[in-house]
Amino acid sequence: WATSAHTHEDFLECLRLQSEDSASISKLIYTPINSSYLSVLQFSIQNRRFNTTTTPKPLVIVTPLNVSHVQAAVSCSQKHGMHIRVRSGGHDYEGLSYVSVLPFVIIDLINLQSVTVDATNNTAWVEAGATIGKLYYSIAQKSRTLGFPAGVCPTVGLGGHISGGGYGLLLRKYGLAADNVIDAQLIDVNGRILDRASMGEDLLWAIRGGGGNTFGIVVAWKVNLVPVPATVTVFTVEKTLEQNATQLVNRWQLLPLMQESFPELGLAKDDCTEMSWIESTLYFAGFSRNTSLEILLNRTQPSVRFFKAKSDYVKEPMPEVALEGIWESLFQLEVGSGQLIFSPYGGRMSEISESSIPFPHRAGNLYKIQHLAYWDEEGIEESNRHISWIRRLYSFLAPYVSKNPRLAYINYRDLDIGINNQGNTSYKQASIWGIKYFKSNFDRLVHVKTQVDPSNFFRNEQSIPPFSA
Ligand code: FDA
Repeated sequence: WATSAHTHEDFLECLRLQSEDSASISKLIYTPINSSYLSVLQFSIQNRRFNTTTTPKPLVIVTPLNVSHVQAAVSCSQKHGMHIRVRSGGHDYEGLSYVSVLPFVIIDLINLQSVTVDATNNTAWVEAGATIGKLYYSIAQKSRTLGFPAGVCPTVGLGGHISGGGYGLLLRKYGLAADNVIDAQLIDVNGRILDRASMGEDLLWAIRGGGGNTFGIVVAWKVNLVPVPATVTVFTVEKTLEQNATQLVNRWQLLPLMQESFPELGLAKDDCTEMSWIESTLYFAGFSRNTSLEILLNRTQPSVRFFKAKSDYVKEPMPEVALEGIWESLFQLEVGSGQLIFSPYGGRMSEISESSIPFPHRAGNLYKIQHLAYWDEEGIEESNRHISWIRRLYSFLAPYVSKNPRLAYINYRDLDIGINNQGNTSYKQASIWGIKYFKSNFDRLVHVKTQVDPSNFFRNEQSIPPFSA
């Protein structure tokens, strides 16, 4: 500890020296002696599992105001051997952007959140610390007929989201958020700022879905905006088991298009509401009609709970016995809650090649399942109870989902599927989890990592290792 305390003093001194205005950078640095340290740390934590008294905390949090501050933070961390974690929106399911077992520094991009929309060329530059909600809001300020295919929850940060792929309601029409990235600004391991021309196509390929905190720090993305109708129709239909939910889900698994071929759902005109695309983003985020669009700028979630999640890909329709097993498992929960979200694939997702970007889950997938367990009581016993529940459900579903390997989505990070060795992880160890997230793209990611960060400076429990490390 004495060594790390000394190192972190040197790190802070380095930051002050590297900054043109040492007084201003001092205001962007938080250590445990600052009265606002805990509130800055906790502000972006989205999973209470990693917000307890025993959760390891950073030695320093730096909240850069501009690119040169990020460059200084990277080069001083390098120079003084500080382990870093990068945070944009803090939604990492396993808390990897703000927790580490090693003494560490958080580079928190919360102040880098500008969005510049060019509605003439249908593009936008978005800083990594901006949220999905801010991007959607900024697009809507300029046009009713432009949108962007990213996630459903407005508070998710674009730094981590696009680094892992990123999807939402426009998935089948336009693919992932990362499929629609055309340029980026990245601070590399040497503190240099790179764009598409200077980083080259391999590195641009890798950062569009190869996982955050691995190839450098993304400061901004340039994205293509997509056309959306001036008016869209939304609906929600609720069904209980008594109303044949099992048979309906069974039937849904094979439907190419709902409105043409799903009379059993009983969708009626009264269930449907017409609205603009931006209003539909509020609808799907769970806000009531007439909520002001400004809510999209709010970075705090209505409720932050304890949770653990897992993901699966379904390639063959599940039999009814599997669906019944899921319901039974949900009924076993006495406290807390469980949720399974089925997201249909197909459409544009089946047209994009598996190696177009690192995200490989394309043709051949009917849908993805996200399994979630939530609870509100503190304590290891509660935590163990809910984590065991979700692990049992995951084991039960093994025969019905993708196999050899059992595939997963990196943005639903799950450390159960494998982690790197601490220190120098091996290719073999990393491939245990890496193949599940990236299939054969894993090898190309290792190749890029070896080129751009051979000393494995940017790393976490599930970051791509270089060959030599
Ligand atoms: P966070 O800041 O925690 O970063 C996640 C990872 O990326 C960490 O490893 C971090 O170090 C790294 N990182 C962050 N910023 C970086 C940067 N600028 N450069 C390099 N690395 C960086 N997903 C989805 O596809 N569709 C959805 O609808 C949703 N919905 C959703 C709702 C809720 C409530 C949660 C908690 C999560 C989701 N997600 C999701 C998952 C989400 O996409 C995923 O957790 C993202 O990685 C979160 O990005 P943040 O920047 O918020 O997280």
